[in-house]
Amino acid sequence: MGVQPPVQHAAKRRPARQKCQTAVYLLVAVSVFLLLGAKAPGPTTPKPVSPLDSRSFQPREKGPVLFRHQPHEAAGITCTACHHNYVRGRNIWREGQPVAACEECHQVQPRPKMLDLKNAFHRQCKGCHLKTRQQGRRAGPIRCEDCHRS
Ligand code: HEC
Ligand code: HEC
Ligand code: HEC
Ligand code: HEC
Repeated sequence: MGVQPPVQHAAKRRPARQKCQTAVYLLVAVSVFLLLGAKAPGPTTPKPVSPLDSRSFQPREKGPVLFRHQPHEAAGITCTACHHNYVRGRNIWREGQPVAACEECHQVQPRPKMLDLKNAFHRQCKGCHLKTRQQGRRAGPIRCEDCHRS
């Protein structure tokens, strides 16, 4: 901790031209922040309900799916069972990091070596529900209408 002069003294002594410059710098900084903000990597804590109803499915065949983190967390499922960011085959995503929507990587239009959006969801969601059921444990729904409500 170095000894510094009180802030208000420094401000009082600052000439008007310098104040104006400071205002311009601030404006530029805020603009850059807003521009980058539009490309923010995503939230870090889950919402109570995450509606899965991508508008990229045109036209939609089924109703939206309401995903809730809480019952999954209560069932002891770890975040990395669902969230991933693969680098050379290893999942480097860790709890507390921003979460990108599945659609950022798995798109509706199939691409080589990448599950399309519908199959990414069905494989992860239904896949686990089926497996858990086969093990005779409490599981989530596997019937279409129990996930796709309305
Ligand atoms: C059973 C699967 C699953 C588990 C387990 C899971 N998530 Fe998610 N999470 C999802 C899905 C699906 C979404 C929505 C993704 C999308 O919109 O494309 C999501 C979205 C999120 C989001 C974005 C905001 C939101 O709620 O939509 C955050 C943050 C998040 N999860 C954090 C976590 C953390 C932290 C954990 C562990 C404590 C966790 N998740 C466990 C499936 C899961
Ligand atoms: C465990 C939950 C779950 C079950 C069970 C399930 N789905 Fe889905 N399905 C999803 C999710 C999640 C999506 C992605 C929704 C989105 O983001 O719009 C999806 C997407 C789809 C889509 C693409 C979006 C659309 O509406 O056109 C179709 C079609 C679909 N499912 C059909 C089915 C059919 C048919 C069944 C039953 C054989 C079924 N699903 C069972 C979770 C489920
Ligand atoms: C940052 C990009 C990215 C995001 C976001 C992402 N995935 Fe993936 N996912 C991948 C890649 C890349 C692979 C292929 C990994 C491989 O083959 O080694 C993959 C593989 C998968 C697989 C195959 C099994 C596995 O886990 O390896 C499923 C199922 C899947 N993703 C579902 C989802 C779902 C559901 C979400 C959203 C909760 C999601 N992914 C979010 C990039 C992503
Ligand atoms: C790793 C395993 C696993 C994955 C992945 C998983 N689930 Fe589940 N899910 C469960 C288990 C276990 C339960 C039962 C919890 C209970 O009843 O105590 C459950 C319960 C549910 C329920 C009923 C509880 C509620 O919230 O109404 C729904 C709906 C559901 N899951 C949807 C989904 C969707 C959609 C996905 C994919 C985005 C998904 N699950 C991925 C294991 C999983």
